Amino acid sequence: MSASVGGASGSRRRARFHTLRVTEVRPLTDASVEVTFAVPDQIADEYDFLPGQHVALRADVDGFELRRSYSLCRPPTRGSVSVAIKRDSGGRFSTWAQTELHAGDEIDVMSPQGTFTSNLSELDGVHIAGIAAGSGITPLMALAATVLTRSETSRVTLVYTNRATTDVMFIEELADLKDKYPSRLALHHVLSREQRAAPLLSGRLDEERLRCILDELVLPETVEEWFLCGPMDLVQLCRDTLEDLGVDRSHVRYELFTTGDRDRSEPPPLERIEVREGDAVYALDFTLDGQSSTVQSPLVAHESILTAALRVRPDVPFACAGGVCGTCRARVVDGAVNMTENYALEPDEIERGYVLTCQSHPTSQRVVVDYDA
Ligand code: FES
Repeated sequence: MSASVGGASGSRRRARFHTLRVTEVRPLTDASVEVTFAVPDQIADEYDFLPGQHVALRADVDGFELRRSYSLCRPPTRGSVSVAIKRDSGGRFSTWAQTELHAGDEIDVMSPQGTFTSNLSELDGVHIAGIAAGSGITPLMALAATVLTRSETSRVTLVYTNRATTDVMFIEELADLKDKYPSRLALHHVLSREQRAAPLLSGRLDEERLRCILDELVLPETVEEWFLCGPMDLVQLCRDTLEDLGVDRSHVRYELFTTGDRDRSEPPPLERIEVREGDAVYALDFTLDGQSSTVQSPLVAHESILTAALRVRPDVPFACAGGVCGTCRARVVDGAVNMTENYALEPDEIERGYVLTCQSHPTSQRVVVDYDA
């Protein structure tokens, strides 16, 4: 899953890869696994995380370096991180993880990122609602378990849609959570291709069904914070419907699987680009880990800032390359850029000059960006 964030809270820090050992690969459904990594004590602080955050994984698959972002599925625990990986049809990384990744293997795992989380210091009496589809339950599992554990007066409502019971990830863990907090967790499975006892919960989660579920089961006026996680069309439907019901957008956070364009989740191609005498170029100066670098990019190459920067510094951070995860964020210190897509930055970050470098192209002859800002 490529991850993205809307809404506030959570932290941004410089993302770094470390090689971690897989301690367990556990089947969740026929098409998904939970992968747990051990985090050595020396780097445990870097892997402190908030429920709802995600990590990027990097591995060589059939001779290609692939990166994918996955949400952390367990409440924060020192010494380990776990992600849930669902196989996409044709998804090279997820298929590889499902079939080739085993306990004892080592792969690169980026330190946790993301702002899809709650204010964990103010949970008393708070009602949090999550709407998820498929593997979108992953960050909500971590959030729900944490919220319910940390405050005895918090409440969580989850609406979770799948095609059939066999597709439901974490089905036992969700049932256990419900057993543990029967009065504070409301769990509604919506199955599109399986008949449930309640007709309201049988069928596709379209606008009509969503409105009925909100009206009869969730009660938006009682909810302080909303978390949406799934494909773009579902997230958009939920955001629009909630707005129409009078829910303030600043109380609605969302995370996307992908932007709907599969190619965008591939890393940028690192072609060999030569700058010839007389070429019209833009000049990029950037700072990363306190070290400044300069690169020139021919205008005809139409390189993003990220792609140009990677030619001289392979350690420039990125994960999804699709404007979704926020890992490539940097602050524009001088010059101007045009950012095509943004599913990750908050409005206040944009106001302060931050951009997603994978989506940004200079509109001035010289641009200076700071990845450390
Ligand atoms: S790398 Fe994910 S938003 Fe740029």
